[in-house]
Amino acid sequence: MSLIQGNTMASHSDATTDANAASGSVTQAAQAVLAQSTQRGGGVQMLGIDKIYPGSNSKALNDFNLEVKPGEMVVLLGGSGCGKSTALRSLAGLEDIQRGRILVGGQDMTAVPANKRGMAMVFQAYSLFPHMSALENVEFGLEIRGVASAERRKLAMEKLDLVGLADQAGKYTQQMSGGQQQRVALARALAINPKVLLLDEPLSALDAKVRVQLRDEIRRIQLEAGTTTVFVTHDQEEALAIADRIGVMNHGRIEQIADPVSLYREPATEYVATFIGLTNRLPGHANGAEAEVFGQRIPLLEGSRTGDVTVLVRPENISLIPAGADADAPKAARDGLTGPEARVNVIHFLGALVRVDAVLTATGTPLTIQLPASELPASLKSGSMVQVAPRPVPALAV
Ligand SMILES: Nc1ncnc2c1ncn2[C@@H]1O[C@H](COP(=O)(O)OP(=O)(O)OP(=O)(O)O)[C@@H](O)[C@H]1O
Ligand SMILES: [Mg+2]
Repeated sequence: MSLIQGNTMASHSDATTDANAASGSVTQAAQAVLAQSTQRGGGVQMLGIDKIYPGSNSKALNDFNLEVKPGEMVVLLGGSGCGKSTALRSLAGLEDIQRGRILVGGQDMTAVPANKRGMAMVFQAYSLFPHMSALENVEFGLEIRGVASAERRKLAMEKLDLVGLADQAGKYTQQMSGGQQQRVALARALAINPKVLLLDEPLSALDAKVRVQLRDEIRRIQLEAGTTTVFVTHDQEEALAIADRIGVMNHGRIEQIADPVSLYREPATEYVATFIGLTNRLPGHANGAEAEVFGQRIPLLEGSRTGDVTVLVRPENISLIPAGADADAPKAARDGLTGPEARVNVIHFLGALVRVDAVLTATGTPLTIQLPASELPASLKSGSMVQVAPRPVPALAV
C-alpha cells in the first residue's frame, strides 16, 4: 500500500510569535517553484466536504473547502479539535466523508481507496519498523509496490541522502534520535514519489531546537521536490515560517486562507487576528473606513464593524515615548504623539526586538507593545510612565 501511516497523538505547545520573520527568502524561493511547478504533482481540491464521525451529532468538517496549487505547501492551522487531522485523513482517503468531492490533478478521487490515491503521510509518532534499518524502512514502501531490489536501494539511498542521513542507512531506527527517526519517516514518504505529501504535526514530539531545524529542512526538501504538500500544525510560528499559504481552521472549516504576511496584516475575522500573532484590543469609534482610537485615526480593514468597536492593533503598531522625558525618544516617535498614559509592567528582551507589557493608567487596559531593541528609550524600565498611540496602520474593528 502506498499510503504510509502510523498513529496520531494529541499534542499541544504554546506558540510564540514573530510573524514578521515569516517573509523573506524562503517565500521568494517558494514563488519561484510555484511558477514552474504546474507540471509536477497534482493540485488538490476539497469541495464542500462534510464529515460526521459515527455516533457524533456534530460535523467534524462542515462544508470544508480547500484548494492547493501544484507544488504548493499549505499549512492548516487551528486549535485542538477544529478538524485539521480530519481534513488531512479525509484527503488521504482514511475517513469516509458524508458529502463533497476530492480532486487531485483534476481527477476525482472521492471514491478511490487510500492506497490508490498516490499520497504519502507522515505523522507525529514516527511509526517506523524498529527492527529494520533506516534503509529498509525507506525501501519498504517501494518493496510493496514491486520495485526491483537494486532500483529500490538506489531510490531509498537518494531519499536518505536528501534528508541528510546517507551515512546512517544501516542503523536500526530504534537506535536513532527522534529527529533522525522523523527524517527517516520523511524519506520513506518521499520515496514513493507521492503526488501529494501529507504531514500531521510531524514535529510535535521533537524538542524545540530539532523542531526548528527539521521544519526548515522539510521546507527545503519540499521546495526541491516540488511536492504538493498539506502540513497540519497548531503552532502558528511553524505555520508562518514554512507555508506558502496558511488556512486557519475553526469549527470544521477554513475561516481564512492567505499567505503568511497577508494573514498577519489583513486578518478577516477576530478569530484569525487573535490566533495569528499578538493583538491589542483598543476601544474606538468607527464610521466606515476609519476608526478613532485615542484621538488617532486608524484605517480599517474589510469586514470591520462600525459604531463603538474594539480595534485589534498589533504590538508593533503602537508607539511609545517616556512621559515627561521624551528627550531620549527617537524623533519620529515623538512627532505628533498625543496619546494616553500607560505604566510599564515588564520589558521582555527578545534579541533584536523588545516587547513591553504596559497598562493604561485610566482604564487598566493591558497593552503589548513591540519595538526594535535599538529604539527602546534608554531610561525605560519596569514602573516607567509612557505615552502611547496607535499608528495609522490598517486594523480590524470588531
Ligand atoms: N475517531 C473519531 N471519532 C469520533 N469523533 C472524532 C474522531 N476523531 C476526531 N473526532 C472529533 O472530530 C473533531 C475534529 O477532530 P480532529 O482530530 O480532526 O481535530 P484536530 O484539529 O486535528 O485537533 P488536534 O489539534 O487536537 O489534533 C473533534 O471534535 C474530535 O473530537
Ligand atoms: Mg490532529
